[in-house]
Amino acid sequence: MSTTTLSDSEHRAAADSEWAVATHALTKRFGPNVAVNNVELRVPRGCAFGYLGPNGAGKTTLIRVLLGLTHADSGTMSLLGYEVPRHRDRALARVGAIVDEPRFHAHLTGRQNLELLASHRETAASDRIGPALERVGMTQRADDKVSKYSMGMRQRLGVAACLLGDPELLILDEPMNGLDPAGIHDMRTMIFALVAEGRTVVLSSHLLDEVERTCDALAIVDRGSVVRQGPISELLASASVFLQVECSDVERATALLSTGNLGLRVESGAAGLGVVLPPGAGRDLIAEVARLLVVNGVELYKLQPVQTSLESWFLEVTSRLGETK
Ligand SMILES: Nc1ncnc2c1ncn2[C@@H]1O[C@H](COP(=O)(O)OP(=O)(O)OP(=O)(O)O)[C@@H](O)[C@H]1O
Ligand SMILES: [Mg+2]
Repeated sequence: MSTTTLSDSEHRAAADSEWAVATHALTKRFGPNVAVNNVELRVPRGCAFGYLGPNGAGKTTLIRVLLGLTHADSGTMSLLGYEVPRHRDRALARVGAIVDEPRFHAHLTGRQNLELLASHRETAASDRIGPALERVGMTQRADDKVSKYSMGMRQRLGVAACLLGDPELLILDEPMNGLDPAGIHDMRTMIFALVAEGRTVVLSSHLLDEVERTCDALAIVDRGSVVRQGPISELLASASVFLQVECSDVERATALLSTGNLGLRVESGAAGLGVVLPPGAGRDLIAEVARLLVVNGVELYKLQPVQTSLESWFLEVTSRLGETK
């Protein structure tokens, strides 16, 4: 509970804050297990932000800490510029969240559940029930009992519940989990629309592809630590490209590519050559690699850009999925 009154200058500072979520050295332990490890997270306002990591990486724990559902062991954090837990009530009044699976009273209808939730909020919340149901495409089913809802319908109702507070920030823990492709598409469209209205959406996920398609920026988390974060376009641009090369003379190709001053790193293996291009390299460099080999008499059978290091790095992290933590 927030016990501290904010001064005018604190209100102004919150409104001016560039970050929807900011944490500094945030740490949460469960015994010897560090579920959130010294996390420095910066979520810009007005974007869709993915918190991406494999099972057990600490995504839900971070979200629970941000929402004050569990205490951090150390570090500081703010939501919408309000320091939490100090100004938790003030911050959470503008935050909508779904953690784990949204929980509703199964014997009540979707609309009755929203009415119950709205009765604990400001009066304007009741007026938002109809538009929120409309928003998530649940108007037709709003008067059915939640026990009759599919997983996807519960997720939608969860988002509708978030919208009752007209939130500036939505925090959704694995919102695509359990959804079929159509449900994922709808959820993504809904997130785009929320961001287009100027809201910030933070979602956790264990799928890079899902985050890449939905989000503008991301943080990759592994074993509690954020290992990369930033706008996806910047992360991809700064990632190095890997070229798979098959040619007539691997030894000669290795010599040509290693000694040129193109900034390449060459690895030879059973499948041929692997050439790592420097971060930010464009298509011109790929053409230059081809030219260098061909003009020096090496026959080129295949030249294929395979993965950015962001992808390969993330695959490496997720390949540990299922390991005992
Ligand atoms: N209440 C708890 N008590 C003890 N350990 C916990 C508790 N909650 C989480 N953990 C541990 O903290 C680590 C992070 O768990 P968390 O649920 O945050 O991961 P996650 O990234 O959300 O995983 P998933 O993708 O499976 O949802 C795990 O090792 C987990 O076992
Ligand atoms: Mg989780």
